[in-house]
Amino acid sequence: MHPILTDFLNKWVYPTGFTGPGVEFRLRQTERCLPLWDKLVLQAIKAAENDLQSGSDEYKAARARGGYAAEGPFMSLKQMSTQILSVAINEQPKYIDLQRMRARQIWDEVKHGQLHADVLLRGGFIKREEELMDDARANTQPKLSYFGMTAMFPHIHPLARAGQHYYNESMACLGIASTLSVIDDELIRHQLHSQSAEELMHFMEGKYQIDAYALTPADQKPIEEVFAFLLRPWAPEPSRALGGTA
Ligand SMILES: [Fe+2]
Repeated sequence: MHPILTDFLNKWVYPTGFTGPGVEFRLRQTERCLPLWDKLVLQAIKAAENDLQSGSDEYKAARARGGYAAEGPFMSLKQMSTQILSVAINEQPKYIDLQRMRARQIWDEVKHGQLHADVLLRGGFIKREEELMDDARANTQPKLSYFGMTAMFPHIHPLARAGQHYYNESMACLGIASTLSVIDDELIRHQLHSQSAEELMHFMEGKYQIDAYALTPADQKPIEEVFAFLLRPWAPEPSRALGGTA
């Protein structure tokens, strides 16, 4: 196992704030995630090394356009509003703390989009953010595990989103740590450091949702099914923001 993953696990995955069925269930799902998390770290490091060897600055723009596609205001508002909508009005009292964390994530993701736009602006790749509206590379991303899945959450279960928080947001944390271990460019490092703590918060929300709320087989089943979807082969590739092609 790569030390970047070991470090993440020891700091954030194995400490358990709660005991009981939610924790036991989460640790079972964690075992399923480990091989793909490890693969992600290696892929992100390789992608960063390839970028450095490319001999051009284009990789910075490609990462930033990919990040804008996944986290720009347009995508963020669509994606995040679906996770808010997955809690029906009559369930708000039960899940109000989750709704507050999800509302906060809308802000976080839009901010991440601005960080990517900032790389493009300060790197001299564009003059105005509006130019990105004419560039399909800054507005499309094909990962089913990212957007297609989120669009389904209102139809699945209020806790289904926990599977994506736990699996995908951990990959954001791991991808950022892996990329920072290789790339020394100041623009990229500023963007990644500015984003890192919020991605960790999104992962910790997934952990909290599972440990505190996924206590019965009925509540665990929809989350387990989300893991089953995310653990398919399309999921472990890093996003374009972290050097992948998807
Ligand atoms: Fe983000």
